[in-house]
Amino acid sequence: MTDATKAGFVDFDSHIASAALPDGLREVLQVLARTCAEISDVVADGALAGALGASGQINVQDEEQKKLDVMTNDMLTDALLACPFVAGVASEEMDEVQPAIHPAGQYLVLFDPLDGSSNIDINAPVGTIFSVLASPSPTPTEADFMQPGRAQVASGYALYGAQTMLVLTTGSGVTGFTMAPEGRWLLTHPDIRIPADTREFAINMSNQRHWADGVQRYVTGCLEGADGPRGKNFNMRWVAAMVADVHRILMRGGVFLYPWDRREPEKPGKLRLMYEGNPMALLVEQAGGKATLDGVAPILDVVPERLHQRVPVALGSANEVDQIAAA
Ligand code: F6P
Ligand code: MN
Repeated sequence: MTDATKAGFVDFDSHIASAALPDGLREVLQVLARTCAEISDVVADGALAGALGASGQINVQDEEQKKLDVMTNDMLTDALLACPFVAGVASEEMDEVQPAIHPAGQYLVLFDPLDGSSNIDINAPVGTIFSVLASPSPTPTEADFMQPGRAQVASGYALYGAQTMLVLTTGSGVTGFTMAPEGRWLLTHPDIRIPADTREFAINMSNQRHWADGVQRYVTGCLEGADGPRGKNFNMRWVAAMVADVHRILMRGGVFLYPWDRREPEKPGKLRLMYEGNPMALLVEQAGGKATLDGVAPILDVVPERLHQRVPVALGSANEVDQIAAA
């Protein structure tokens, strides 16, 4: 590739250094960026790193862990717990929160180390999602993690796709970095905004017969296109990795739904609040979109009750999320 530095791109460290952030948060974000670059290498090596296939273990969500789920969880946990500003971590792949033993620990980091794991073995996009909270204590318990998404001081994701990208918010807009050789993140998307209108929706259509009536009406309206009440044709996309679907929405608009459905009526949805819903919701709101449970109630206002709790998700272009609410 051309020399990215010559092309004048600002790198992650310089960008973060110029932002008005506490030193500790800056360091936590640097650890996350560095580890995501390392994860990108392992993902890219795939079979060469012995990283494909199942690990033979089941996680707390009763899901079969892939080898890469376990490897990336260990990489993030080790790197974050070694950072003196981290007070504790929690992950999709670990039953319980892990406190760090640092007297200066100020931040809690929650993560989904490898989102979209069903894509690993077919070489389709996967990602890492993270959420950062201020810790009420240097020796946190699970109760200290139970903060609504609005309290996040930062969130973001890495997308291991055609390009490896890191997308970040610290509560004032959304910035995107593209990975250059040697794991250097360069600022390529300084101000990501989601268009308010769209003609694109994302939902797993194979669950249609299980959806509630409102979701049925909304999707039927989209499918009827120019001949129906919406008066315009829609396209549909489903990558089966939330990171990749949300990234598309941040880049060109759209809506993403993973609603409650009747398959397991006692479960509010499939996606997890603390390390999927909340970090993505902060990014989407900071980019001018809406991130809701049902078209109306903001995900960021949910008061968490459990570390691994699930939520329904309807997020994306603001005017289109309103259509979900009105359906
Ligand atoms: O982490 C859960 C997840 O893999 C998301 O990344 C993705 O959006 C969704 O599940 C895919 O679900 P399904 O298997 O129903 O397509
Ligand atoms: Mn996930």
